[in-house]
Amino acid sequence: MSHWLIVGASRGIGLETARQLSARGERVTASVRSAAGLAALKAAAPQAAPLQFDVRDAAAISAAAAQVRDPIDVLIANAGAYGPQRQSSTDMDFEGALDLLSVNTLGPLRVVQAFLPLIKRGARPRIVLMTSRLGSMSLGGTVNVAYRVSKAGLNKIAQCLADDLKAEGVVVVALSPGRVRTAMGGPNATLDVRDSVAGVIQVAESLTLADTRRYLDYRGEELPW
Ligand SMILES: NC(=O)c1ccc[n+]([C@@H]2O[C@H](COP(=O)([O-])OP(=O)(O)OC[C@H]3O[C@@H](n4cnc5c(N)ncnc54)[C@H](OP(=O)(O)O)[C@@H]3O)[C@@H](O)[C@H]2O)c1
Repeated sequence: MSHWLIVGASRGIGLETARQLSARGERVTASVRSAAGLAALKAAAPQAAPLQFDVRDAAAISAAAAQVRDPIDVLIANAGAYGPQRQSSTDMDFEGALDLLSVNTLGPLRVVQAFLPLIKRGARPRIVLMTSRLGSMSLGGTVNVAYRVSKAGLNKIAQCLADDLKAEGVVVVALSPGRVRTAMGGPNATLDVRDSVAGVIQVAESLTLADTRRYLDYRGEELPW
């Protein structure tokens, strides 16, 4: 049994990750940021130990980390948002874009930094940063510029963390869940959330230090940076 920390577990991919892991008897600590999120987590994964914080709030993240005593083996930094309505290269909601960077790019880093002492004590410690194919610098298309930038930035953070933590045996990857039918992915996305999450868990379980600094999808396939 491993100890997993799932961040952003009120709905979508994070909630399903907490549900699947709890159902098979893994030890799960999971974060939400509202009473409604807490209720959803309790219903889907009653055994999960809940934490409450917004990934933009460093003090709240630190306070949550101080509540956890035991080492964390796997962190899934999953919380994320899609950003403002206006986010094209010719018409940008700059305040909204800045807020999105705080959630999608710096949010996972705040979480990693706060929980790192617990992660370093984990067994085969692994950090999975939930990114997107849209963060790839080599992918074409111009829609959702702020979201793409936020995930490209997260990919760079994955590379830097991987390089900085390799000597301490901590694996860091950027992982794309595929196009998943959630509130964010929408009803026309290709993947059922159960299938995406089963893949995400399998990839996270299989990671070794040889995988650090990789950009993978939920099937474990390499993506181009
Ligand atoms: N669905 C897809 O097709 C797809 C594709 C590629 C990548 N992804 C990535 O996968 C991750 C999960 O996506 P999803 O489809 O499950 O999205 P979702 O259904 O919209 O769920 C987003 C989750 O992130 C949480 N969250 C958002 N902003 C937060 C904040 N500031 N602080 C803390 N938690 C916050 C939400 O909590 P609340 O309920 O409190 O809002 C919710 O738990 C995201 O990082 C997303 O970018 C998704």
